[in-house]
Amino acid sequence: MTEETRRKAALVGAFDRGAPTYDRLGVDFFGPPGTELVRRAGVRTGQRVVDVGCGRGAVLVPAARAVGVTGRVVGIDLAPTMVELTRAEVRAAGLSQVEVELGDAESPLLPAGEFDAVLGGFVVFLLPDPAAALRGYRRLLCRGGRIGITTFANQDPRFTEAMRRLAGHLPADRRQWPTSKQDALYATADLTAALLWEAGYRDVDVTEASFQSRFRDVEHWLAWVWSHGARSLLEQIPAQRLPVALAEVTPVVEGARSVDGDLLFTTTVRFAVAASPG
Ligand SMILES: C[S@@+](CC[C@H](N)C(=O)[O-])C[C@H]1O[C@@H](n2cnc3c(N)ncnc32)[C@H](O)[C@@H]1O
Repeated sequence: MTEETRRKAALVGAFDRGAPTYDRLGVDFFGPPGTELVRRAGVRTGQRVVDVGCGRGAVLVPAARAVGVTGRVVGIDLAPTMVELTRAEVRAAGLSQVEVELGDAESPLLPAGEFDAVLGGFVVFLLPDPAAALRGYRRLLCRGGRIGITTFANQDPRFTEAMRRLAGHLPADRRQWPTSKQDALYATADLTAALLWEAGYRDVDVTEASFQSRFRDVEHWLAWVWSHGARSLLEQIPAQRLPVALAEVTPVVEGARSVDGDLLFTTTVRFAVAASPG
């Protein structure tokens, strides 16, 4: 197994194990940016949309509401539990315009030219070759179809420091988490815009917005960390080191305590939307 394959399997495995609580812990983190992405991408009634790396539906569900019953939304995810739970939820919600399938966001096996929009909430930067994935999404789009993706422009400094401290407990050969060799590709808004331009998109628009997330206490924050991609970091810390590692992050997380008693984290999200000239 190559390092890249191992990394991908570890990440998707972590998302799969985190799926039952992913975005279901009462924390506004993925939901508001997902709704905003659908709005900024200009998704309209009757359109056909693909949501790559759909997770628990933070983008998928607002997209389904935007296209309505005359539209169609296909969500794909590589984590089977994400697919199973999200499919059950959209069915229970009566969103008959939605399909949720197991699929790889690196190169979705979907028909060419049949979609008005490809959306990806916090996923493209997880892929081994984001530029190749973005080029590939143009195949799915009809002439003038649009792409909309989100990345993290800035994590809350306390989150970054907590992750840095946790990463210090990883086995020596894995300490570069959470950075990857792809991070330089979208480190700034200009680089994100260039990535889309070079992938063949036009009318590229990149903007950033900040969102606040509240946690009751450190336990709530930690349950949230176990529920998303950072879980892959926690899982790679040797079990006997974990209590020490968690004790090290507690004062950092406590530093986010606001006057109203909650822990308050601010995350800046980058929205990139563009059109495919066809
Ligand atoms: C950070 S979550 C984002 C989920 C959702 N878009 C949202 O905004 O909440 C990333 C999602 O991408 C999925 N994922 C990671 N790599 C993938 C790949 N190669 N193909 C498809 N899904 C992938 C994970 O399983 C996870 O559900």
